Amino acid sequence: MGLGGRRGLSLVGFPLLIPLGVFLALALDGNKLSSMAAAVRCDLFRGRWVMDPSYPLYNNSASCPFIEREFSCIHNGRSDLLYTHYRWQPLSCNLSRFNGQAFLEKLRGKTVMFVGDSLSRNQWRSLTCMLHSSVRPAPRFNITREGDVSTFTFTDYGVRIMLDRNVFLVDLVKQGAAGRILKLDSIQLGGKLWLNTDFLIFNTWHWWNRRGPAQPWDYIEVGKKLYKDMDRMVAFETALRTWGRWVDLNIDPSKSTVFFQGISPSHYNGTLWGEPEAKSCIGQKEPLPGSTYPGGLPPAVGVLKSVLRNISKPVTLLDVTNLSLLRKDGHPSIYGLGGRTGIDCSHWCLAGVPDTWNEILYNLIL
Ligand SMILES: *[C@@H]1O[C@H](CO)[C@@H](O)[C@H](O)[C@H]1NC(C)=O
Ligand SMILES: *[C@@H]1O[C@H](CO)[C@@H](O)[C@H](O)[C@H]1NC(C)=O
Ligand SMILES: *[C@@H]1O[C@H](CO)[C@@H](O)[C@H](O)[C@H]1NC(C)=O
Ligand SMILES: *[C@@H]1O[C@H](CO)[C@@H](O)[C@H](O)[C@H]1NC(C)=O
Ligand SMILES: *[C@@H]1O[C@H](CO)[C@@H](O)[C@H](O)[C@H]1NC(C)=O
Ligand SMILES: *[C@@H]1O[C@H](CO)[C@@H](O)[C@H](O)[C@H]1NC(C)=O
Repeated sequence: MGLGGRRGLSLVGFPLLIPLGVFLALALDGNKLSSMAAAVRCDLFRGRWVMDPSYPLYNNSASCPFIEREFSCIHNGRSDLLYTHYRWQPLSCNLSRFNGQAFLEKLRGKTVMFVGDSLSRNQWRSLTCMLHSSVRPAPRFNITREGDVSTFTFTDYGVRIMLDRNVFLVDLVKQGAAGRILKLDSIQLGGKLWLNTDFLIFNTWHWWNRRGPAQPWDYIEVGKKLYKDMDRMVAFETALRTWGRWVDLNIDPSKSTVFFQGISPSHYNGTLWGEPEAKSCIGQKEPLPGSTYPGGLPPAVGVLKSVLRNISKPVTLLDVTNLSLLRKDGHPSIYGLGGRTGIDCSHWCLAGVPDTWNEILYNLIL
């Protein structure tokens, strides 16, 4: 699918962004009018979870030997495995099943980079597991790390799947006596790394509400002024706008395709899914049925969508919030890094929910 297709598909997230006539012109360009018109009609992010015994796409130990302990719930003792057998079913079309061989061939010589926090690592690891396990014999690979950037290379294909750990996207710098400054107006540091990448998938959210010892900055800088603190949603929005400007100034859409990994939801409040006695995701073994999460969307989703609408260059939202909200059963809970002491209802077990994020990414790219 050519550029026209990608542009068309970005309509999935923003049905009003490009007028239909303009879209059809783009689509005709790509000579794939009918399939793309179908893609536009179908919102891949609107659907439900269905049981499918042909999932998961990989087994931890045998086919993904390099998986981190924190995502490896089975290795950490989780014995209920129902959660691994669900497939995402869009309401008005079907997703193509992930084909790692096709993906590696299509991406030969190309680079995919995830940029963000540990939810980006969750998706990065998922994609490397999916690719590694879908080709037989297992493809050769090497993993290197330089500073905050980890690179997983499928050496026979020259495909690099990279992760840049950068939790705020905007700059965080040490500055003399003032200490650590989070600069909401500035992207100097990361920006250099992100250029010359074929596919970029950004994410930031989970660190914006951190306080106390878990907060990695001393001051926020915006408009050349320092603040001891500010409304965190406003800070998040300001940083996203800075990132949007960076995209508009730096991205050449003929070279790089940009995605934003939507807000990945946590499950610490059962009231939101109709189980008021639940204080976390512990013991959850099944997804919510249907397509609607009773608790509604986290407010950060609205902020994100409003910022994305104002970016001129094409950016596709991987709008994973709804489908992930339904998966109160998908988190490590007590089978993560912290075990019983660190209940994790933010990250996701692998194999698991991020595989679906990647299956959708695959459908948007191929
Ligand atoms: C996972 O392991 C099970 C049992 O060994 C096997 O039946 C299944 O085919 C494996 N799945 C994949 C995707 O390798
Ligand atoms: C989706 O797949 C099912 C089962 O293979 C098939 O019956 C259905 O027609 C497909 N739907 C679309 C929209 O292609
Ligand atoms: C990893 O593979 C790439 C591509 O073949 C190669 O250029 C690089 O030197 C390798 N790195 C290591 C540490 O083996
Ligand atoms: C859980 O969500 C409900 C409904 O929004 C809210 O009233 C309640 O305060 C929340 N509980 C906690 C512990 O945050
Ligand atoms: C996502 O969930 C919200 C709240 O449940 C709902 O209003 C919205 O229509 C859903 N969007 C999609 C694409 O399913
Ligand atoms: C949208 O972008 C324009 C120019 O890039 C800026 O002036 C305007 O304030 C932005 N609007 C919103 C709502 O962010």
